[in-house]
Amino acid sequence: TRVAVLFGGRSAEHGVSCASAASIVRHLSRERYEVTPVRIGTDGLWTIGLDHQVPADVDTVTLLDMTRDPAGPRPSALESMWSALSRLRDEVDVVFPALHGGHGEDGTLQSTLELFGLPYVGSGVLACGIGMDKELTKKLLAETGLRVADSVVLRGTDYDEVSAEDRERLGLPVFVKPAREGSSVGVSRVDDWDTLDEAITTARKTGMSKVLVEAAVRGREVDVGVLEYPDGRVVAGPPLEIRVPDKHSFFDFDAKYQGETVFDIPPSLPPAVLEALQAQAVKAFRALGCSGLLRVDFFLPADLVPVVNEVNTMPGFTAMSQYPRMWSAAGLEYPELLDVLIDTALV
Ligand code: DAL
Ligand code: MG
Repeated sequence: TRVAVLFGGRSAEHGVSCASAASIVRHLSRERYEVTPVRIGTDGLWTIGLDHQVPADVDTVTLLDMTRDPAGPRPSALESMWSALSRLRDEVDVVFPALHGGHGEDGTLQSTLELFGLPYVGSGVLACGIGMDKELTKKLLAETGLRVADSVVLRGTDYDEVSAEDRERLGLPVFVKPAREGSSVGVSRVDDWDTLDEAITTARKTGMSKVLVEAAVRGREVDVGVLEYPDGRVVAGPPLEIRVPDKHSFFDFDAKYQGETVFDIPPSLPPAVLEALQAQAVKAFRALGCSGLLRVDFFLPADLVPVVNEVNTMPGFTAMSQYPRMWSAAGLEYPELLDVLIDTALV
């Protein structure tokens, strides 16, 4: 099977995507696949790597080197995308969009792949679009009976303040988040209302005017991976608890990628709670209309009734990321996990 691994991209998670892709490419069985890496630059330029020469021990640096910009006159981003997709349509069987954030995990890229008739791993246009948007995700999941944190949405239009009444209801601390970002980029914890404006400004530096001001959920943080098999079964893996070192005030960007955070798979919780987390993760997958995979991130307050924090239609796949590690703990090793994802994409 010929697989193109798309990575990089125009979002703030460009670097995370490069690390995810290197890890994916390293774990794709060379007996089963011919791998073509395709890098999308932060400027949107698509570069196809040299075919069929990806070493089995490829790392991020090698992967970037293989997909460096060609010499000579640069095509426009649009021209490069068009010519790359035209070539992929003839030369690959399936695309693995190892992209996080905007223009990659938000349905835009998926719609382009649809238009080119290229099968791809993961969710389609609508599920990606909703899954990327924290407001819409929460609305839809609340509608299906899942618990979500209380929040106020600021749209950057007319009334753009958190009223005294809202402040009273949300309480402190609150988390201020751009509505459509990943890896905690632009997220701040606010412990004093005097710093709210600064946090909103930080969130909007991502270029996103819609911002969520969300009540903090005191409790543990637990993620659940959902995987769809080619026969249509949708299965939740073992829950994973995230234990962030004290020096981070939450599971922020550095805590995510510096490798000091401890994961417990499964966490020490009553079996009924673990089962509830898994059942709710599958429910979220269904409610959002996902395909292939999803990671659902929960908080678990003292009453042990899960609160959905957010979802990721293309969760991190770096060596330290939760999703592949959960499945490995369940006995599904990284290469076999990739086989399932690709087989399901090709159904
Ligand atoms: N958005 C990052 C990649 C994650 O959820 O793992
Ligand atoms: Mg996320």
